[in-house]
Amino acid sequence: MTLPLHNRRILLVIGGGIAAYKALDLIRRLRERGALVRPLLTKGAQEFVTPLAAAALAGERAHTDLFDRAEEADIGHIKLARDADAIVVAPATASLMARMASGEASDLAATVLLATTLPILIAPAMNVRMWQHPATRRNLATLLGDGVQVVGPNDGAMAEAEFGPGRLAEPTEIADAVESMLAARRPASGFGFLAGRTEAGALTGRRVLVTSGPTHEPIDPVRYLANRSSGRQGHAIAAAAAAAGAEVTLVSGPVAIPDPSGVRVVRVETAREMLAAVEAALPADIAVFTAAVGDWRPAEAKGAKIKKDGTEPAPLRLVENPDILATIAALDSGRPALVVGFAAETDAVLENARQKIARKRCDLLVANDVSAESGVMGGTANTVHLIGRDGTVETWPTLDKDEVGRRLVERFAALLPR
Ligand code: C5P
Repeated sequence: MTLPLHNRRILLVIGGGIAAYKALDLIRRLRERGALVRPLLTKGAQEFVTPLAAAALAGERAHTDLFDRAEEADIGHIKLARDADAIVVAPATASLMARMASGEASDLAATVLLATTLPILIAPAMNVRMWQHPATRRNLATLLGDGVQVVGPNDGAMAEAEFGPGRLAEPTEIADAVESMLAARRPASGFGFLAGRTEAGALTGRRVLVTSGPTHEPIDPVRYLANRSSGRQGHAIAAAAAAAGAEVTLVSGPVAIPDPSGVRVVRVETAREMLAAVEAALPADIAVFTAAVGDWRPAEAKGAKIKKDGTEPAPLRLVENPDILATIAALDSGRPALVVGFAAETDAVLENARQKIARKRCDLLVANDVSAESGVMGGTANTVHLIGRDGTVETWPTLDKDEVGRRLVERFAALLPR
């Protein structure tokens, strides 16, 4: 089996923060997945970890200074900025983010980041107050606008005995984010029966709307109803549609995975917010409803935390949520030309799916088995069946969700009226 990052070249920029030690573990995690890692340490990073340690773990020499003559002769900063598949900045300190956002070229790390056109993923780590400072918020917004992807920071206890967002994402989370960033950019792969049918640009000039993730339906200020959807499949479809040239809006419930690149992301929590965001994102040529929308919500979200008072049963009354897919599929005017639904079933997958396509009036239904044994919910692989309006069924082999996304997008492009 090929490793997910087989031979992918990652330039790892290590910033100067207490979390720099975790960058050493990140080198390991990336190499385990097949990546070739070239470390670059800022001056600050060298206060926390040594270039020797990074080099030893990477099996590559570590780069440090802009004006190191031997280094410039050997591999210059421009070559460093080009000679990789992606750049990962971990930890991205407040200062490094500021240098990136303002386009400074004051040291080797900042110069390489300015000189590159490679995809960049940053994993911020800093004190919670620094993270929340308006200056960092501005820099983050600038970087996101420049197409930089972000993973974390996570909530947690900080070195200074404070608590909140600012902790470096775990090395495995960062490695996952690298994988999805690179997968989203990989051209349609050549294996399988759909190989090579659609070239990049198949959706140029088209508008695609995708819903993804779970919804959170508040019970009170601290509790909510949710489900196990990770958003991986919906995000992969959005990424693949963007890679095919579409203008993509991704309406996402709360997820812990990075935004796909080149996609407009609208974040929502509840089903009703999701419906409003979907309506606001129309018109679209293709609408793909991948989100695991909560079927019910608490009849009223209490303003204060509900107390245990021995009442049996617990005081929770549920009402039905709007069906977003059915609402959009039933539009008289402004209905997208292709409306695609998903059917997550735990049993009688095909039978339930056939009934669902008729009931929801979508053009295509993608059905999958999400029973606990299938490992699909929250997992990275998926086995799907495509059900057409006429009841035809096509079953695909078990594939990585990114690959499912790419193949679905190829199919959508082929089905779209010219
Ligand atoms: O009825 P069920 O939840 O199985 O239908 C799944 C399909 O309907 C998915 O495409 C899902 O995104 C969509 N859906 C929706 N709004 C709901 C419930 C489901 O858009 N309230």
